Amino acid sequence: MDKKIYIFDTTLRDGEQTPGVSLNLQEKLEIAKQLEKLGVDVIEAGFPLASKGDFEAVKAIAKNVKGPVIVGLARTSKKDIDRAWEALKYAEKPRIHTFIATSDLHMEHKLKMEPDEVLNTAVEMVKYAKSLCPSVEFSPEDGTRTRPEFLYKVLEAVIDAGADILNIPDTVGYSTPNEYGAFIKGIKQNVPNIEKAIISVHCHNDLGLAVANSLAAIENGATQVECAINGLGERAGNAALEEIVMAIKTRSDNFNCYTDIVTEQISKTSNLVSHMTGVEIQHNKAIVGANAFAHESGIHQHGVLNCRETYEIMTPESVGLKKNSIVLGKHSGRHAFEERLKELGYANLSMDKINEAFIKFKDLADKKKSVSDEDIEALVIQEAFQIPELFKLEYFQISSGNSTLATSTVKLGFEDKKLEEASLGDGPVDATFKAIEKAIGIDVILKNYFLKAIGSGKDALGEVTLKIEKDNRIYSGKGISTDVIESSAKAFINAINKMHYEMNYDTNELNPVQ
Ligand code: KIV
Ligand code: ZN
Repeated sequence: MDKKIYIFDTTLRDGEQTPGVSLNLQEKLEIAKQLEKLGVDVIEAGFPLASKGDFEAVKAIAKNVKGPVIVGLARTSKKDIDRAWEALKYAEKPRIHTFIATSDLHMEHKLKMEPDEVLNTAVEMVKYAKSLCPSVEFSPEDGTRTRPEFLYKVLEAVIDAGADILNIPDTVGYSTPNEYGAFIKGIKQNVPNIEKAIISVHCHNDLGLAVANSLAAIENGATQVECAINGLGERAGNAALEEIVMAIKTRSDNFNCYTDIVTEQISKTSNLVSHMTGVEIQHNKAIVGANAFAHESGIHQHGVLNCRETYEIMTPESVGLKKNSIVLGKHSGRHAFEERLKELGYANLSMDKINEAFIKFKDLADKKKSVSDEDIEALVIQEAFQIPELFKLEYFQISSGNSTLATSTVKLGFEDKKLEEASLGDGPVDATFKAIEKAIGIDVILKNYFLKAIGSGKDALGEVTLKIEKDNRIYSGKGISTDVIESSAKAFINAINKMHYEMNYDTNELNPVQ
Protein backbone atom coordinates (compact mmCIF):
# COMPACT_ATOMS: atom_id res chain seq x y z
CA MET A 1 0.00 0.00 0.00
CA ASP A 2 1.38 3.44 -0.92
CA LYS A 3 2.05 5.74 2.03
CA LYS A 4 0.19 8.98 2.57
CA ILE A 5 2.16 12.24 2.62
CA TYR A 6 0.61 14.90 4.84
CA ILE A 7 0.53 18.33 3.26
CA PHE A 8 1.25 21.10 5.78
CA ASP A 9 0.53 24.46 4.18
CA THR A 10 2.43 27.45 5.53
CA THR A 11 1.23 30.08 3.03
CA LEU A 12 -0.34 32.09 5.86
CA ARG A 13 2.74 31.96 8.11
CA ASP A 14 6.06 31.55 6.27
CA GLY A 15 4.36 32.61 3.01
CA GLU A 16 3.16 35.80 4.63
CA GLN A 17 6.79 36.51 5.55
CA THR A 18 7.42 37.12 1.82
CA PRO A 19 8.93 40.61 1.58
CA GLY A 20 6.18 43.15 0.88
CA VAL A 21 3.28 40.78 1.63
CA SER A 22 0.76 41.71 4.27
CA LEU A 23 -2.65 40.04 4.38
CA ASN A 24 -5.58 41.30 6.40
CA LEU A 25 -7.82 39.08 8.48
CA GLN A 26 -10.54 38.71 5.86
CA GLU A 27 -7.98 37.76 3.21
CA LYS A 28 -6.34 35.17 5.49
CA LEU A 29 -9.70 33.64 6.29
CA GLU A 30 -10.62 33.40 2.62
CA ILE A 31 -7.32 31.75 1.79
CA ALA A 32 -7.73 29.30 4.69
CA LYS A 33 -11.22 28.36 3.43
CA GLN A 34 -9.81 27.73 -0.03
CA LEU A 35 -6.96 25.64 1.45
CA GLU A 36 -9.59 23.52 3.14
CA LYS A 37 -11.26 22.95 -0.27
CA LEU A 38 -7.86 22.11 -1.71
CA GLY A 39 -7.66 19.32 0.86
CA VAL A 40 -4.52 20.27 2.79
CA ASP A 41 -4.05 18.28 6.00
CA VAL A 42 -2.59 21.12 8.04
CA ILE A 43 -2.84 24.93 7.87
CA GLU A 44 -0.19 26.96 9.66
CA ALA A 45 -2.34 30.02 10.22
CA GLY A 46 0.23 32.42 11.70
CA PHE A 47 2.55 33.36 14.53
CA PRO A 48 0.12 34.63 17.21
CA LEU A 49 2.67 36.49 19.34
CA ALA A 50 4.07 38.36 16.33
CA SER A 51 1.21 40.89 16.15
CA LYS A 52 -2.40 41.50 17.10
CA GLY A 53 -3.34 40.95 13.46
CA ASP A 54 -1.65 37.53 13.42
CA PHE A 55 -3.33 36.56 16.69
CA GLU A 56 -6.80 37.54 15.45
CA ALA A 57 -6.27 35.74 12.15
CA VAL A 58 -5.22 32.47 13.83
CA LYS A 59 -8.21 32.75 16.17
CA ALA A 60 -10.67 33.44 13.32
CA ILE A 61 -9.29 30.52 11.29
CA ALA A 62 -9.41 28.23 14.36
CA LYS A 63 -13.07 29.16 14.84
CA ASN A 64 -14.18 29.02 11.21
CA VAL A 65 -12.12 26.41 9.37
CA LYS A 66 -12.94 22.82 10.24
CA GLY A 67 -11.25 19.80 8.71
CA PRO A 68 -7.52 20.56 8.58
CA VAL A 69 -5.33 20.75 11.69
CA ILE A 70 -4.81 24.43 12.56
CA VAL A 71 -1.31 25.39 13.67
CA GLY A 72 0.10 28.43 15.45
CA LEU A 73 3.85 29.07 15.57
CA ALA A 74 5.61 29.86 18.86
CA ARG A 75 9.21 30.27 19.96
CA THR A 76 10.24 28.06 22.89
CA SER A 77 8.97 30.54 25.45
CA LYS A 78 5.93 30.40 27.75
CA LYS A 79 4.72 33.79 26.52
CA ASP A 80 4.72 32.63 22.89
CA ILE A 81 3.13 29.28 23.68
CA ASP A 82 0.39 30.83 25.86
CA ARG A 83 -0.47 33.32 23.14
CA ALA A 84 -0.54 30.59 20.48
CA TRP A 85 -2.84 28.45 22.62
CA GLU A 86 -5.14 31.38 23.35
CA ALA A 87 -5.76 31.70 19.60
CA LEU A 88 -5.78 27.98 18.81
CA LYS A 89 -8.00 26.65 21.56
CA TYR A 90 -11.12 27.16 19.41
CA ALA A 91 -9.87 24.77 16.70
CA GLU A 92 -11.35 21.34 16.13
CA LYS A 93 -7.79 20.02 15.69
CA PRO A 94 -5.24 22.47 17.16
CA ARG A 95 -1.46 22.13 17.04
CA ILE A 96 1.29 24.23 18.63
CA HIS A 97 4.46 24.43 16.54
CA THR A 98 7.40 25.47 18.66
CA PHE A 99 10.96 26.04 17.49
CA ILE A 100 14.47 26.91 18.64
CA ALA A 101 17.70 27.09 16.65
CA THR A 102 20.18 24.22 17.14
CA SER A 103 23.10 24.98 14.81
CA ASP A 104 26.33 26.21 16.44
CA LEU A 105 26.13 29.34 14.31
CA HIS A 106 22.64 30.28 15.51
CA MET A 107 23.18 29.21 19.13
CA GLU A 108 26.37 31.27 19.44
CA HIS A 109 25.52 34.38 17.41
CA LYS A 110 21.75 34.66 17.59
CA LEU A 111 20.55 32.99 20.77
CA LYS A 112 23.82 33.41 22.74
CA MET A 113 23.00 30.16 24.51
CA GLU A 114 25.00 27.04 25.30
CA PRO A 115 23.89 23.78 23.63
CA ASP A 116 22.71 22.29 26.94
CA GLU A 117 20.61 25.37 27.63
CA VAL A 118 19.00 25.03 24.19
CA LEU A 119 18.34 21.33 24.81
CA ASN A 120 16.73 21.98 28.22
CA THR A 121 14.63 24.87 26.90
CA ALA A 122 13.36 22.75 24.02
CA VAL A 123 12.39 19.92 26.38
CA GLU A 124 10.72 22.20 28.95
CA MET A 125 8.75 24.11 26.34
CA VAL A 126 7.60 21.01 24.46
CA LYS A 127 6.35 19.64 27.81
CA TYR A 128 4.60 22.93 28.49
CA ALA A 129 3.00 23.08 25.03
CA LYS A 130 1.85 19.47 25.42
CA SER A 131 0.22 20.31 28.76
CA LEU A 132 -2.04 22.73 26.82
CA CYS A 133 -2.49 21.24 23.38
CA PRO A 134 -3.03 17.63 22.25
CA SER A 135 -0.67 17.94 19.28
CA VAL A 136 2.81 19.49 19.40
CA GLU A 137 5.32 19.96 16.60
CA PHE A 138 8.95 20.81 17.26
CA SER A 139 11.43 22.37 14.82
CA PRO A 140 15.18 22.65 15.36
CA GLU A 141 15.73 25.83 13.35
CA ASP A 142 18.69 25.73 10.94
CA GLY A 143 18.41 21.95 11.33
CA THR A 144 20.49 21.05 8.28
CA ARG A 145 23.50 23.02 9.59
CA THR A 146 23.23 21.44 13.05
CA ARG A 147 25.85 18.91 14.19
CA PRO A 148 24.04 15.57 13.63
CA GLU A 149 24.99 14.10 17.04
CA PHE A 150 23.54 17.14 18.84
CA LEU A 151 20.43 17.09 16.65
CA TYR A 152 19.78 13.40 17.42
CA LYS A 153 20.08 14.16 21.15
CA VAL A 154 17.60 17.07 20.93
CA LEU A 155 15.12 15.10 18.83
CA GLU A 156 15.18 12.09 21.16
CA ALA A 157 14.63 14.34 24.18
CA VAL A 158 11.73 16.30 22.69
CA ILE A 159 9.96 13.09 21.63
CA ASP A 160 10.22 11.92 25.25
CA ALA A 161 8.85 15.32 26.28
CA GLY A 162 5.76 14.80 24.11
CA ALA A 163 6.49 16.10 20.59
CA ASP A 164 4.34 14.32 18.02
CA ILE A 165 5.90 15.79 14.90
CA LEU A 166 9.57 16.60 14.30
CA ASN A 167 10.07 19.11 11.56
CA ILE A 168 13.57 19.37 10.09
CA PRO A 169 14.03 22.79 8.48
CA ASP A 170 16.57 23.63 5.82
CA THR A 171 16.13 27.19 7.05
CA VAL A 172 18.58 28.87 4.70
CA GLY A 173 18.07 26.59 1.69
CA TYR A 174 21.64 25.31 1.86
CA SER A 175 21.15 21.57 1.44
CA THR A 176 21.22 19.50 -1.74
CA PRO A 177 18.85 16.61 -2.50
CA ASN A 178 21.33 13.76 -1.82
CA GLU A 179 22.57 15.42 1.32
CA TYR A 180 19.10 16.22 2.69
CA GLY A 181 17.79 12.72 1.90
CA ALA A 182 20.77 11.21 3.76
CA PHE A 183 20.21 13.64 6.65
CA ILE A 184 16.61 12.43 7.07
CA LYS A 185 17.77 8.81 6.81
CA GLY A 186 20.40 9.53 9.49
CA ILE A 187 17.66 10.83 11.81
CA LYS A 188 15.58 7.69 11.25
CA GLN A 189 18.56 5.47 12.01
CA ASN A 190 20.03 7.35 14.97
CA VAL A 191 17.11 8.68 17.03
CA PRO A 192 16.05 5.60 19.05
CA ASN A 193 12.43 6.63 19.70
CA ILE A 194 11.83 8.12 16.23
CA GLU A 195 9.00 5.67 15.45
CA LYS A 196 6.83 7.54 17.99
CA ALA A 197 6.92 10.72 15.88
CA ILE A 198 6.14 11.87 12.36
CA ILE A 199 9.11 13.26 10.41
CA SER A 200 8.29 16.51 8.65
CA VAL A 201 10.41 18.60 6.29
CA HIS A 202 10.53 22.34 5.64
CA CYS A 203 12.76 23.51 2.79
CA HIS A 204 13.65 26.99 1.64
CA ASN A 205 14.46 27.75 -1.96
CA ASP A 206 17.64 29.85 -1.82
CA LEU A 207 19.39 27.55 -4.31
CA GLY A 208 16.20 26.65 -6.16
CA LEU A 209 16.27 23.18 -4.56
CA ALA A 210 13.37 23.33 -2.09
CA VAL A 211 11.04 21.01 -4.03
CA ALA A 212 13.85 18.58 -4.97
CA ASN A 213 15.02 18.48 -1.34
CA SER A 214 11.48 17.86 -0.06
CA LEU A 215 11.01 14.99 -2.52
CA ALA A 216 14.38 13.49 -1.55
CA ALA A 217 13.24 13.61 2.09
CA ILE A 218 10.02 11.78 1.20
CA GLU A 219 12.08 9.05 -0.45
CA ASN A 220 13.99 8.70 2.80
CA GLY A 221 11.15 8.48 5.29
CA ALA A 222 9.56 11.92 5.78
CA THR A 223 5.75 11.76 5.80
CA GLN A 224 4.82 15.42 6.28
CA VAL A 225 5.90 18.18 3.89
CA GLU A 226 5.70 21.87 4.72
CA CYS A 227 5.13 24.01 1.67
CA ALA A 228 3.41 27.15 0.41
CA ILE A 229 1.16 28.03 -2.51
CA ASN A 230 3.16 29.49 -5.42
CA GLY A 231 6.33 28.84 -3.37
CA LEU A 232 5.82 31.96 -1.26
CA GLY A 233 8.01 32.51 1.80
CA GLU A 234 11.04 34.22 3.30
CA ARG A 235 13.65 35.34 0.71
CA ALA A 236 13.46 32.92 -2.26
CA GLY A 237 10.46 31.24 -0.65
CA ASN A 238 9.40 27.81 0.55
CA ALA A 239 8.89 24.63 -1.45
CA ALA A 240 5.90 25.15 -3.77
CA LEU A 241 2.90 23.05 -2.71
CA GLU A 242 1.60 22.61 -6.25
CA GLU A 243 4.96 21.32 -7.52
CA ILE A 244 5.38 18.76 -4.73
CA VAL A 245 1.81 17.52 -5.07
CA MET A 246 1.90 17.21 -8.85
CA ALA A 247 5.33 15.53 -8.78
CA ILE A 248 3.97 12.94 -6.34
CA LYS A 249 0.84 12.45 -8.45
CA THR A 250 2.47 12.40 -11.87
CA ARG A 251 5.39 10.20 -10.75
CA SER A 252 3.59 7.99 -8.25
CA ASP A 253 5.43 5.11 -9.94
CA ASN A 254 8.66 6.63 -8.60
CA PHE A 255 7.60 7.93 -5.18
CA ASN A 256 5.09 5.21 -4.17
CA CYS A 257 3.05 7.63 -2.15
CA TYR A 258 0.00 9.88 -2.47
CA THR A 259 -1.54 13.03 -1.01
CA ASP A 260 -5.18 13.90 -0.35
CA ILE A 261 -4.95 17.14 -2.31
CA VAL A 262 -7.85 17.84 -4.68
CA THR A 263 -5.53 18.80 -7.52
CA GLU A 264 -8.37 20.33 -9.56
CA GLN A 265 -8.43 23.14 -6.96
CA ILE A 266 -4.76 24.05 -7.50
CA SER A 267 -5.22 26.67 -10.19
CA LYS A 268 -8.00 28.47 -8.31
CA THR A 269 -6.00 28.47 -5.07
CA SER A 270 -2.91 29.77 -6.82
CA ASN A 271 -4.88 32.62 -8.47
CA LEU A 272 -6.52 33.55 -5.21
CA VAL A 273 -3.22 33.67 -3.32
CA SER A 274 -1.58 35.67 -6.09
CA HIS A 275 -4.49 38.11 -6.11
CA MET A 276 -4.57 38.54 -2.34
CA THR A 277 -0.82 38.83 -1.81
CA GLY A 278 -0.16 40.91 -4.92
CA VAL A 279 2.71 38.54 -5.82
CA GLU A 280 2.54 37.77 -9.53
CA ILE A 281 3.35 34.27 -10.77
CA GLN A 282 6.22 34.03 -13.23
CA HIS A 283 4.94 32.86 -16.62
CA ASN A 284 7.23 29.84 -16.84
CA LYS A 285 6.52 28.69 -13.27
CA ALA A 286 5.84 24.93 -13.14
CA ILE A 287 2.19 23.87 -12.77
CA VAL A 288 0.58 27.31 -12.29
CA GLY A 289 2.51 29.66 -14.61
CA ALA A 290 0.63 31.09 -17.60
CA ASN A 291 2.87 29.06 -19.94
CA ALA A 292 2.83 25.79 -17.98
CA PHE A 293 0.50 24.18 -20.53
CA ALA A 294 1.16 26.42 -23.55
CA HIS A 295 2.77 24.95 -26.66
CA GLU A 296 4.48 27.49 -28.89
CA SER A 297 6.54 25.61 -31.42
CA GLY A 298 4.80 24.14 -34.47
CA ILE A 299 6.34 20.72 -33.88
CA HIS A 300 5.01 20.64 -30.32
CA GLN A 301 1.55 21.86 -31.35
CA HIS A 302 1.39 19.24 -34.08
CA GLY A 303 2.43 16.53 -31.60
CA VAL A 304 -0.13 17.56 -28.96
CA LEU A 305 -2.92 17.72 -31.53
CA ASN A 306 -2.14 14.17 -32.67
CA CYS A 307 -1.57 12.76 -29.20
CA ARG A 308 -1.56 14.90 -26.08
CA GLU A 309 1.00 12.76 -24.22
CA THR A 310 3.72 13.64 -26.77
CA TYR A 311 4.41 16.91 -24.94
CA GLU A 312 2.07 16.91 -21.93
CA ILE A 313 2.92 14.85 -18.85
CA MET A 314 -0.21 15.97 -17.00
CA THR A 315 -3.44 17.51 -18.22
CA PRO A 316 -4.41 21.15 -17.64
CA GLU A 317 -7.74 19.80 -16.30
CA SER A 318 -5.89 17.90 -13.55
CA VAL A 319 -4.86 21.23 -11.98
CA GLY A 320 -8.25 22.82 -12.60
CA LEU A 321 -7.67 24.59 -15.91
CA LYS A 322 -10.61 24.31 -18.28
CA LYS A 323 -10.90 25.43 -21.86
CA ASN A 324 -14.39 26.55 -22.74
CA SER A 325 -15.58 26.46 -26.31
CA ILE A 326 -18.55 28.78 -25.63
CA VAL A 327 -17.30 32.35 -25.53
CA LEU A 328 -19.29 34.87 -23.51
CA GLY A 329 -19.94 38.32 -24.95
CA LYS A 330 -22.40 41.18 -24.84
CA HIS A 331 -25.31 39.00 -25.96
CA SER A 332 -24.78 36.46 -23.19
CA GLY A 333 -27.43 36.42 -20.51
CA ARG A 334 -27.32 36.08 -16.78
CA HIS A 335 -27.98 32.34 -16.89
CA ALA A 336 -24.93 31.66 -19.09
CA PHE A 337 -22.85 33.92 -16.85
CA GLU A 338 -23.95 32.08 -13.71
CA GLU A 339 -23.28 28.70 -15.32
CA ARG A 340 -19.76 29.83 -16.25
CA LEU A 341 -19.16 31.01 -12.69
CA LYS A 342 -20.10 27.54 -11.44
CA GLU A 343 -17.76 25.88 -13.94
CA LEU A 344 -14.98 28.15 -12.76
CA GLY A 345 -15.55 27.03 -9.16
CA TYR A 346 -17.55 29.97 -7.80
CA ALA A 347 -20.75 28.08 -7.06
CA ASN A 348 -21.22 29.51 -3.59
CA LEU A 349 -21.14 33.21 -4.34
CA SER A 350 -23.98 35.17 -2.77
CA MET A 351 -26.72 36.55 -5.06
CA ASP A 352 -25.52 40.10 -4.34
CA LYS A 353 -21.99 39.31 -5.43
CA ILE A 354 -23.23 37.57 -8.61
CA ASN A 355 -25.43 40.56 -9.41
CA GLU A 356 -22.53 42.99 -8.96
CA ALA A 357 -20.20 40.81 -11.02
CA PHE A 358 -22.83 40.48 -13.77
CA ILE A 359 -23.17 44.27 -14.02
CA LYS A 360 -19.37 44.54 -14.37
CA PHE A 361 -19.37 41.71 -16.92
CA LYS A 362 -21.97 43.51 -19.08
CA ASP A 363 -19.99 46.69 -18.80
CA LEU A 364 -16.86 44.90 -19.95
CA ALA A 365 -18.68 43.05 -22.75
CA ASP A 366 -19.66 46.44 -24.16
CA LYS A 367 -15.97 47.36 -24.43
CA LYS A 368 -14.56 43.96 -25.51
CA LYS A 369 -15.71 41.61 -28.27
CA SER A 370 -15.43 38.49 -26.19
CA VAL A 371 -14.96 38.06 -22.45
CA SER A 372 -12.54 35.26 -21.54
CA ASP A 373 -12.60 33.00 -18.48
CA GLU A 374 -9.56 34.90 -17.19
CA ASP A 375 -11.54 38.17 -17.47
CA ILE A 376 -14.48 36.67 -15.59
CA GLU A 377 -12.24 35.27 -12.87
CA ALA A 378 -10.54 38.63 -12.44
CA LEU A 379 -13.93 40.36 -12.13
CA VAL A 380 -15.33 37.86 -9.75
CA ILE A 381 -12.30 37.61 -7.46
CA GLN A 382 -12.29 41.37 -7.24
CA GLU A 383 -16.00 41.49 -6.50
CA ALA A 384 -16.09 38.54 -4.12
CA PHE A 385 -13.30 39.76 -1.91
CA GLN A 386 -14.16 43.41 -2.00
CA ILE A 387 -13.79 45.19 1.29
CA PRO A 388 -16.17 48.11 1.96
CA GLU A 389 -15.54 50.93 -0.52
CA LEU A 390 -15.14 53.89 1.80
CA PHE A 391 -13.70 55.96 -1.05
CA LYS A 392 -15.01 55.29 -4.54
CA LEU A 393 -13.72 56.58 -7.86
CA GLU A 394 -16.48 58.53 -9.57
CA TYR A 395 -14.63 60.34 -12.27
CA PHE A 396 -11.16 61.20 -13.53
CA GLN A 397 -9.77 63.26 -16.36
CA ILE A 398 -6.17 63.51 -17.45
CA SER A 399 -4.18 65.68 -19.77
CA SER A 400 -0.85 64.24 -20.76
CA GLY A 401 1.70 64.19 -23.56
CA ASN A 402 5.41 63.76 -24.20
CA SER A 403 6.11 67.49 -24.02
CA THR A 404 3.68 68.67 -21.32
CA LEU A 405 3.42 68.12 -17.61
CA ALA A 406 0.63 65.63 -16.87
CA THR A 407 -2.39 66.88 -14.93
CA SER A 408 -5.16 64.83 -13.43
CA THR A 409 -8.51 65.75 -11.90
CA VAL A 410 -10.31 63.17 -9.79
CA LYS A 411 -13.69 63.06 -8.09
CA LEU A 412 -14.23 60.54 -5.29
CA GLY A 413 -17.39 59.55 -3.46
CA PHE A 414 -17.03 59.42 0.33
CA GLU A 415 -20.16 58.77 2.40
CA ASP A 416 -22.59 61.39 1.04
CA LYS A 417 -19.81 63.81 0.05
CA LYS A 418 -17.88 64.37 -3.15
CA LEU A 419 -14.14 64.99 -2.95
CA GLU A 420 -12.60 66.66 -5.97
CA GLU A 421 -8.97 67.67 -6.52
CA ALA A 422 -6.47 68.20 -9.31
CA SER A 423 -2.72 67.71 -9.39
CA LEU A 424 0.31 67.88 -11.63
CA GLY A 425 2.54 64.84 -11.80
CA ASP A 426 5.37 62.99 -13.39
CA GLY A 427 3.14 61.25 -15.93
CA PRO A 428 -0.62 60.58 -15.78
CA VAL A 429 -0.46 57.81 -13.16
CA ASP A 430 1.63 59.91 -10.76
CA ALA A 431 -0.65 62.94 -11.29
CA THR A 432 -3.73 60.78 -10.59
CA PHE A 433 -2.24 59.29 -7.41
CA LYS A 434 -1.29 62.75 -6.17
CA ALA A 435 -4.81 64.07 -6.88
CA ILE A 436 -6.32 61.14 -4.95
CA GLU A 437 -4.00 61.77 -1.99
CA LYS A 438 -4.94 65.45 -2.01
CA ALA A 439 -8.67 64.68 -2.19
CA ILE A 440 -8.51 62.24 0.74
CA GLY A 441 -5.97 64.30 2.66
CA ILE A 442 -3.36 61.59 3.20
CA ASP A 443 0.20 60.93 2.20
CA VAL A 444 1.35 57.38 1.47
CA ILE A 445 4.48 55.87 -0.04
CA LEU A 446 4.03 53.91 -3.26
CA LYS A 447 6.19 50.82 -2.73
CA ASN A 448 5.61 49.06 -6.02
CA TYR A 449 3.40 49.11 -9.07
CA PHE A 450 2.77 46.33 -11.57
CA LEU A 451 0.64 46.42 -14.70
CA LYS A 452 -0.32 43.33 -16.67
CA ALA A 453 -2.75 42.47 -19.43
CA ILE A 454 -5.37 39.85 -18.70
CA GLY A 455 -5.86 37.74 -21.80
CA SER A 456 -4.71 38.94 -25.19
CA GLY A 457 -5.68 41.52 -27.79
CA LYS A 458 -5.60 45.31 -27.92
CA ASP A 459 -8.79 45.48 -25.88
CA ALA A 460 -7.42 43.27 -23.09
CA LEU A 461 -8.17 44.24 -19.51
CA GLY A 462 -5.29 45.96 -17.76
CA GLU A 463 -4.79 44.81 -14.18
CA VAL A 464 -2.78 46.96 -11.79
CA THR A 465 -1.35 45.53 -8.59
CA LEU A 466 0.39 47.93 -6.26
CA LYS A 467 1.52 48.32 -2.68
CA ILE A 468 1.46 51.40 -0.51
CA GLU A 469 3.16 51.98 2.83
CA LYS A 470 1.81 53.97 5.74
CA ASP A 471 3.20 53.90 9.29
CA ASN A 472 5.49 50.95 8.48
CA ARG A 473 2.60 48.80 7.27
CA ILE A 474 2.10 47.61 3.72
CA TYR A 475 -1.29 47.48 2.00
CA SER A 476 -1.83 46.00 -1.44
CA GLY A 477 -4.45 47.10 -3.94
CA LYS A 478 -5.74 45.85 -7.26
CA GLY A 479 -7.75 47.52 -10.01
CA ILE A 480 -8.94 46.34 -13.41
CA SER A 481 -10.28 48.18 -16.40
CA THR A 482 -9.70 48.42 -20.12
CA ASP A 483 -8.20 51.86 -19.33
CA VAL A 484 -4.86 51.55 -17.51
CA ILE A 485 -5.14 54.93 -15.76
CA GLU A 486 -8.51 53.86 -14.39
CA SER A 487 -7.03 50.50 -13.27
CA SER A 488 -4.25 52.43 -11.53
CA ALA A 489 -6.63 54.82 -9.76
CA LYS A 490 -8.86 51.93 -8.66
CA ALA A 491 -5.88 49.95 -7.34
CA PHE A 492 -4.59 52.97 -5.40
CA ILE A 493 -8.03 53.64 -3.87
CA ASN A 494 -8.44 49.91 -3.11
CA ALA A 495 -5.19 49.93 -1.10
CA ILE A 496 -6.31 53.06 0.80
CA ASN A 497 -9.69 51.45 1.53
CA LYS A 498 -7.91 48.35 2.86
CA MET A 499 -5.83 50.55 5.12
CA HIS A 500 -8.97 52.11 6.60
CA TYR A 501 -10.72 48.76 6.84
CA GLU A 502 -7.83 47.19 8.76
CA MET A 503 -7.64 50.06 11.17
CA ASN A 504 -11.31 49.65 12.04
CA TYR A 505 -12.17 45.99 11.55
CA ASP A 506 -14.20 44.08 14.09
CA THR A 507 -13.54 40.32 13.94
CA ASN A 508 -17.10 39.51 14.98
CA GLU A 509 -18.43 41.14 11.85
CA LEU A 510 -16.49 38.89 9.52
CA ASN A 511 -18.67 37.49 6.83
CA PRO A 512 -16.66 35.28 4.50
CA VAL A 513 -18.04 35.03 1.00
CA GLN A 514 -17.63 31.31 0.38
O1 KIV B 1 12.63 28.12 8.09
C1 KIV B 1 12.48 27.81 9.28
O2 KIV B 1 13.38 27.33 9.96
C2 KIV B 1 11.17 28.03 9.87
C3 KIV B 1 10.91 27.42 11.19
C4 KIV B 1 10.20 28.34 12.11
C5 KIV B 1 10.17 26.12 11.01
O3 KIV B 1 10.32 28.64 9.25
ZN1 ZN C 1 10.80 28.70 7.07
